Amino acid sequence: MKMKTPFDAFGNIALVKFKDKTSANDKRLFANKLLRYNKSVRTVLEKIRGFTGRLRKQKTRWIAGEKTKEAVYRENDCVFRFNMDSVYFSPRLSNERKEIAQKIKKGDEVLVMFGGVAPYPIVIARNSKAHRVYSVEISKEASKYAKLNAELNNVKNKVYVIQGDVKRVAKKIKGGVSVRGTLVPLKFDVIVMPRPQLKDSFLEEAFMLSKKNTAVFYYDFCKESEIKNIVNKIELAAKKSGRKIKILKIKKAGEIAPYKYRIRVDFKVL
Ligand SMILES: C[S@@+](CC[C@H](N)C(=O)[O-])C[C@H]1O[C@@H](n2cnc3c(N)ncnc32)[C@H](O)[C@@H]1O
Repeated sequence: MKMKTPFDAFGNIALVKFKDKTSANDKRLFANKLLRYNKSVRTVLEKIRGFTGRLRKQKTRWIAGEKTKEAVYRENDCVFRFNMDSVYFSPRLSNERKEIAQKIKKGDEVLVMFGGVAPYPIVIARNSKAHRVYSVEISKEASKYAKLNAELNNVKNKVYVIQGDVKRVAKKIKGGVSVRGTLVPLKFDVIVMPRPQLKDSFLEEAFMLSKKNTAVFYYDFCKESEIKNIVNKIELAAKKSGRKIKILKIKKAGEIAPYKYRIRVDFKVL
């Protein structure tokens, strides 16, 4: 079936971005066609507004099929449940998650800042020999799903969800903090930073929780010509924290708008 209107599939839910001025009737017709030709899709939602605010929430509207906004989505041998409107989730990052999981070494203590409903922590926990993976997320709703997802994927003993602001949690961890009776390590072997598209870099917190040889995967957003500014920002933050780093890799991890990219910078703390 030829479909000109773009949509993203989240397992049982298809999310469609219609062109302005598409009539309600045309939206319904398209949605019903989509349901007929994609057997796994049970619900069609329309995207009303993209991700905004600190919690990175989007707004959708039901168009056809089962009346739900709860997605059950599979990737990398994992399953994730989440509400399309109340938390962030992007299926476009599935390869990123896989790539990072492949870089984790046996016994690594891993910290994922901005864990969301825990797709990075769970893909890492299921596809690597990490010792433990800590997921720090400010949203109560996303943390609730993160705990549920850790259970659904049988990694409850490996994934530790900490609900709170990375800034506060980083300070607490420094002082020693216990989660489910286990003391969270003061420093991590790997820190993953799938940052929200907001101003704060959170690099100060990353350096606070780094030791010699900590590998950091830092995400940012910019035009191609601005990549060097991001590298400068990281180097400056390292200097401010009195640390030396080695940039290992700079990668475009997807186009988020015309000529604007999600960039991943991999670096090592020396
Ligand atoms: C771009 S989303 C990424 C979520 C998840 N890593 C994923 O890939 O699906 C960013 C997440 O950071 C969370 N967040 C924003 N500011 C935060 C903070 N200061 N501390 C902890 N989490 C924060 C948001 O609630 C959101 O879930």
